[in-house]
Amino acid sequence: MSGRRVGFCLSDKKRRRMNLDAFAEFCEGHGVEVVEIDLSQPLGAQGPFDVIIHKLSDVIVEAEHNSQSQQLLANFQSYVSAHPSTILLDPLPAMTQLLDRFASYRIMSELHNSLRDWRICSPPYLEIHSATELPSIQQGVTAQNLSFPLICKTRVAHGSLSHEMSLIFSADSLADIRPPCVLQSFVNHGAVLHKVFVVGDRHYCVERPSLKNFPSGPCDRKTIFFNSHQVSKPESSSDLTALDEEMPCLPPPSSEAVAALVRELRAQLGMALFGVDVIINIHTHTLTVIDINIFPGYEGVPQFFSSLLSHIESVLDKHSSAGPQAAGSASSAPSPAAASRLL
Ligand SMILES: Nc1ncnc2c1ncn2[C@@H]1O[C@H](COP(=O)(O)OP(=O)(O)O)[C@@H](O)[C@H]1O
Ligand SMILES: [Mg+2]
Repeated sequence: MSGRRVGFCLSDKKRRRMNLDAFAEFCEGHGVEVVEIDLSQPLGAQGPFDVIIHKLSDVIVEAEHNSQSQQLLANFQSYVSAHPSTILLDPLPAMTQLLDRFASYRIMSELHNSLRDWRICSPPYLEIHSATELPSIQQGVTAQNLSFPLICKTRVAHGSLSHEMSLIFSADSLADIRPPCVLQSFVNHGAVLHKVFVVGDRHYCVERPSLKNFPSGPCDRKTIFFNSHQVSKPESSSDLTALDEEMPCLPPPSSEAVAALVRELRAQLGMALFGVDVIINIHTHTLTVIDINIFPGYEGVPQFFSSLLSHIESVLDKHSSAGPQAAGSASSAPSPAAASRLL
């Protein structure tokens, strides 16, 4: 494995969170050089790279309205296009669609078809594009078979605002939502979230706290506004995560079903580094998918460094045995305009 260079292109926050320095040291011991890419400097001079691992979520979201970010993204994309033998983890179009809940919920809603044998589903939802739709939302809620309470999430799935959510308990409170957003049926799941972390062909499940159960059906309770970080971080604990009633423990998700879900999403997304949030419906025990995350934190996965390095080694091995023309996903990078259209 000597002479292999892996470029990392991450925000400062992500670099610190994943402890890139420690990962670089770990890789060095295995003959893989880790290089931090500075997006504001010409990339050509920083290369060559055998693999680039990136999380450009900030840049992609900002490129919607900020010309500097558009330029950074364009530079990155032109480097990737000009170096088709550099393997990109993961492809930009796949990542870009996960930054948009309208797109990611469409993917999740298809899962019950492709995974019919496993009783895997995602809750019904409704896209609200703009405030002009507000007068007809109640009709949409009924037409899509949504049931109260509803959880309302912003359309953009990245950045601090994207974690500001609300629980809506009646048709009268639908006036509280701020489009563009999605409304989704709230599914009682005993306040346990299962985070599935994927690294190439390995995955790991970690339990986290989650929202408590609420009585089904509409009621005259006021809208609850909350930040999802109060709810599903490892250390989260609040009134919203403490069950009001005693409840028998739910069975954990079947490992075969989780493996089938991961296989299906890997194939559909063409991604190697992502997370899936799964809950178990307390009434039907159905495995219910509520979120797909790009290059998540892998907190609680002590094997993360070794799994990531083995994934890097495996893509490099496949690449070199397939010959230099069989590039990874590099050539599938979209133009900046296409990338932002996906949002
Ligand atoms: N449909 C749902 N039913 C029940 N709880 C939900 C549902 N959707 C989200 N949640 C809860 O809200 C939290 C945040 O939602 P999620 O879609 O994962 O957003 P994000 O992680 O991007 O903030 C989840 O971890 C879970 O506790
Ligand atoms: Mg989540």
